[in-house]
Amino acid sequence: MARPHGTPVDHFPFTFVIAAAGPFPSSTHNIAYNSFGDPCRSLGVNIGFKRTTMSAIEILDLEKSYQVGFWRKREKVALRPLRLTIQEGEVFGFLGPNGAGKTTTLKLLMGLVFPTGGSARILGMEMDDPRVKSQIGFLPEQPYFYDHLTARELLNYYGQLSGVAAKLRTARVEDMLERVGLMESANVQLRKFSKGMLQRVGLAQAILHDPKLVFLDEPMSGLDPMGRREVRDLIQQLRHEGKTVFFSTHILSDAEALCDRVGVIHQGELRGVGAVVELTSQAQGKIEIIFCAQAVPAGLTQLGAEARVSGDMVNAVLPEKQQDAALEVLRRERLKLISLTPVRKSLEEYYIQNMRPMEGPKEENRKGVGV
Ligand SMILES: Nc1ncnc2c1ncn2[C@@H]1O[C@H](COP(=O)(O)OP(=O)(O)OP(=O)(O)O)[C@@H](O)[C@H]1O
Ligand SMILES: [Mg+2]
Repeated sequence: MARPHGTPVDHFPFTFVIAAAGPFPSSTHNIAYNSFGDPCRSLGVNIGFKRTTMSAIEILDLEKSYQVGFWRKREKVALRPLRLTIQEGEVFGFLGPNGAGKTTTLKLLMGLVFPTGGSARILGMEMDDPRVKSQIGFLPEQPYFYDHLTARELLNYYGQLSGVAAKLRTARVEDMLERVGLMESANVQLRKFSKGMLQRVGLAQAILHDPKLVFLDEPMSGLDPMGRREVRDLIQQLRHEGKTVFFSTHILSDAEALCDRVGVIHQGELRGVGAVVELTSQAQGKIEIIFCAQAVPAGLTQLGAEARVSGDMVNAVLPEKQQDAALEVLRRERLKLISLTPVRKSLEEYYIQNMRPMEGPKEENRKGVGV
């Protein structure tokens, strides 16, 4: 990175959007067409990348520390060296508790704060390459908009900034308003919008220029259950359009439902990354059996089963090694077996397990965590 480290420039979204509208190489080789037929300077299309093989994001030991305290002498580590690759077309969920480093990672990738070390490539280009900006969309954690504008005016304005051709802009804005469910409030000034409505405007501006890669910082934040569902559907649509989506969230069920892979970050350190099934499928050495009965047979309790009766069914969890003995008890008691399944970790259990505080400052062991 040629830029000085530690210089915050985090007044988004306008810094970001203006950069997105900045000068572009004018070579005709660089004109590409997005899915709306817009010759929108989608430079990556013409710089020779292949959809099937290219990594959308390659993060190489990106790290960030802040100097804090009155004399700025104390170091606050926000992100430890992070190594992570996201493939094109992937929906990736970045999970972690408050203060984990999710927003810091997104701001680093957006060029809104400078890294203390490491680098990243986005769509095959260095992350500070100005051409990247036209191909990415970003929903900040706390978007700020000119609130005297209406939703329709604001999106038109963003459309101009991000280079959507004038003849396509109106149709694009209307499409976005429809997609995020704001058509009825399109002519209302943003200062009269609720938090959830502003979040929808933020989503619309993030995808307005048909970016290949979308970064969303807590996209479900502030939304009611219906709104959350709509955002989930929107992310699914983006996936079907072949976009890459990198989003942070606290809502594990959303991550579970949407993501090809998730990364779990805590105290600035990536604790694990993989498909939800991979992270949660590690067998617990326990089985769950469900059978018809109105009481728990004593034989099962002796085998160490934790059982609960509901109506005519019993649900018992016991060590896997007792499987044969447990089935023998059911057979002896002439009880009808409904199901027998290995107990798997939920994403929530995985998450909680990985939220343990780190032991000691073993810096070298933390280098290059991730995949
Ligand atoms: N400008 C800053 N100066 C000093 N410390 C900062 C600054 N920005 C962030 N941090 C610290 O970096 C750490 C990571 O913050 P970050 O905003 O990335 O967390 P997060 O995972 O997005 O949390 P949340 O879920 O609450 O949004 C926190 O401890 C935070 O206090
Ligand atoms: Mg955050």
